[in-house]
Amino acid sequence: MSTSTPATLQLRVAEARDLNPLIRLICLRADDGAVLPGYTAGAHLRVRVQLPDGHDDWRHYSLINLSPRADAWVAPTEYVIAVRREDEGRGGSRFMHRQVQPGQVLTIEPPKNEFPLRDRGGCAVLVAGGIGVTPLVSMAAQRVAQQAPVRMHYAGRSRELMAFLPQLQQLLGDALHVHADAEAGAPLDVEALLDACRDDDQLYVCGPKPMLDTLLARTQARGWTRERVHFEVFTAPTVAAGDHAFEVVLAQSGRSLTVPANRSILDCLIDAGCDPMFDCKRGECGVCSTPVLEGQIDHRDYVLSDGEKREGKVMQICISRCKGQRLVLDL
Ligand code: FES
Repeated sequence: MSTSTPATLQLRVAEARDLNPLIRLICLRADDGAVLPGYTAGAHLRVRVQLPDGHDDWRHYSLINLSPRADAWVAPTEYVIAVRREDEGRGGSRFMHRQVQPGQVLTIEPPKNEFPLRDRGGCAVLVAGGIGVTPLVSMAAQRVAQQAPVRMHYAGRSRELMAFLPQLQQLLGDALHVHADAEAGAPLDVEALLDACRDDDQLYVCGPKPMLDTLLARTQARGWTRERVHFEVFTAPTVAAGDHAFEVVLAQSGRSLTVPANRSILDCLIDAGCDPMFDCKRGECGVCSTPVLEGQIDHRDYVLSDGEKREGKVMQICISRCKGQRLVLDL
C-alpha cells in the first residue's frame, strides 16, 4: 500500500459470522494481504452499503481490535467491525447482515477517529450500551496494553445479546461490570457508577441516546466539566413521539420541500438533489450546521451550547427538527 492514503479502499470480506441473533462480525482484508492504514482506539470506518431502494449510502462502524501488539494498530492487515441489525432502519444494517458474504468486495473509507482516548490521567471509565460497546472494546484493549487504569460498565438487554463479553471478561477481569436488564430488572444505576468515579476520571460513553442524555445530565448536575465526558451516539436518529412533518424553505433559491416525520432535513435535501455538507449524521460533528432565518428549531444535537440553542440562529440539519410547521434556512 502506498504511503498516501487513498480516498477509498476496496477490501474483501475475509470472514462474516453472527456473534448472536442481532450482531454480525465482519473482517475485511486487502486481496494482496497489504498493510492497511493504521488507526487508534475509537476510530471508525465508513462502509458503502446498498439500500433497498437501490441507492448507495454510507454507514459508520467502529473498528474492533483486542490485540496488545502495536503493529495491529499501526500497520494492520485487517479491519474488524460488528454490525447490529436494525429491522426498523433504512436498510444499511440489513444489507450488512443479509447480503454481505465472505469473498465479496466492499468499498470503505480509511479509518477516522472522532472519539479518541485522551491522555489526561485518571481512570478511563468506559460506559457501553448494547452495540455501543464496539469502540470501547478497542479502548479497553489499548488502555490495558498501555498499563493505564481502565474500567468498563457494559449494559445490555441480556447477556446473550451482548457481544464480546468473554473477551472483555478475559481482558478486564474485575474491572468489567456487566449490567443485563433481564437479570437486574432495572436500568443501569448511573448514580452508583458516578459515585465510584474520582475527580480526575474521564468518562467515555457509547450507546443509545437516552443513556447518553442521562449521563450528560447527571454529570452536569454533579458539576463535572464537559471535557471529562467523551461520547459517541451509536444509534441513528429515530422518530420520537410527537415528530411531525414540516415545510423547509431554502431562502437562497426559494425552493421548498416537505420533511416527513421519519426523515431528516439533511436526507430530504439530498433526495431533492442538493449537496449539503455532512459527516456523522448523528448531531455530533457540527459539519451540517446551517443558518436559520425563521421558524422554531427543535434542537437535538450535541454540538451547540445551550446559549446557541436559545438564540436559534443555527441548527444541525442531520438531526434537529422544527417545533412548528415551517423553517426558513439560509441555503
Ligand atoms: S452531520 Fe454531524 S452534526 Fe450533522
